[in-house]
Amino acid sequence: MPARARSLHTLMHGDTLDAVLDAVDRDARAVGLPPFVLGGGSNLLLARDLDEPVLSVRLRGRRLLDSTADAVTLEIGAGETWHDTVRWTLANGWYGLENLALIPGLVGAAPWQNIGAYGVEVAERIDAVQTIHLDDRRRVRWSRVACDFGYRSSRFKTDAGRPWLITHVQLRLSRRADLRLGYGELAARLPADATPAMVADQVEAIRREKLPDPAVQGNAGSFFKNPVVPRQLAERLQASAPRMPSWPAGSDADQVKLSAGWLIEQAGWKGFCDGAAGVSPHHALVLVNRGGATGRDILALADRIRTSVADRFGVVLEPEPVVIA
Ligand code: EPU
Repeated sequence: MPARARSLHTLMHGDTLDAVLDAVDRDARAVGLPPFVLGGGSNLLLARDLDEPVLSVRLRGRRLLDSTADAVTLEIGAGETWHDTVRWTLANGWYGLENLALIPGLVGAAPWQNIGAYGVEVAERIDAVQTIHLDDRRRVRWSRVACDFGYRSSRFKTDAGRPWLITHVQLRLSRRADLRLGYGELAARLPADATPAMVADQVEAIRREKLPDPAVQGNAGSFFKNPVVPRQLAERLQASAPRMPSWPAGSDADQVKLSAGWLIEQAGWKGFCDGAAGVSPHHALVLVNRGGATGRDILALADRIRTSVADRFGVVLEPEPVVIA
């Protein structure tokens, strides 16, 4: 079911930036609410209409900023389509984004939530992020370190980072293929002499098998983050479920990452339908709109799943998409 915005401002060209931001400012002051910045909308659940002015960033453009024998630095407009950008880099012989093929959405959202898949996070490929401050219009270029990337997080996703509008993303890619095939299923599908384009093809194939296309069936990809829990809890759970998947969680040896999809499936939710809201039969982490579900229907289902997983495993799941409730 659609959610409605009171006002929508679309930023198409850099030379209209001031005029568009002035208009957004006026609307924001009129309703006393900060603007809401919209990317492609593929990682967003709207459970209400939006009174705040919506700013849709559609800045286009892909530029080669720097080129050496080994690597290139690219500047990409935040409004470019992510997947088209991945394919464009591969066609030019610039490597490093192949594992991130077919992720829906626009380029500006990639650093915002540090998109990741099949063993690669975009943070590893980011040289810098160019922004403008929505209030005082300062332009700041944030180096990768300053972006403060974490698992599906960045400085821009925090309250302090929210006024920074991402206008361009600078990527640093390699001219030499250095395949990342740690994700077992990917390696198993590829020959020993695989190329980056072949990796992207197989990533696309895996995604098409497991994840519904949001253009065809409403969904926001993984609805929950994979939870990071104390090692002791993981070991206790694994004592009764030895096949429960788990991974190291960064540098802290006392923390372990679990599979939210596995926990949800074990709690009996895979393929579940409650009217128009449901859980994908192909991947338990994906909540789907089967036609006519409201954002509130999806949220109600998410709440039931959260409670059930917490009761059964003592693990609290957190939503992965942006939820406007
Ligand atoms: N699993 C189940 N049942 C399921 C689904 C998964 O038991 O229905 C278990 C399996 O053991 C499987 C494991 O979970 O081996 C991992 O599943 P998968 O490889 O599909 O990855 P994921 O951890 O569920 C994460 C990302 C995805 C990304 C994939 C592949 C998050 C929240 N999700 O999912 O990203 O595509 O890895 O790298 O980290 C997204 O962020 O929206 C997203 C789709």
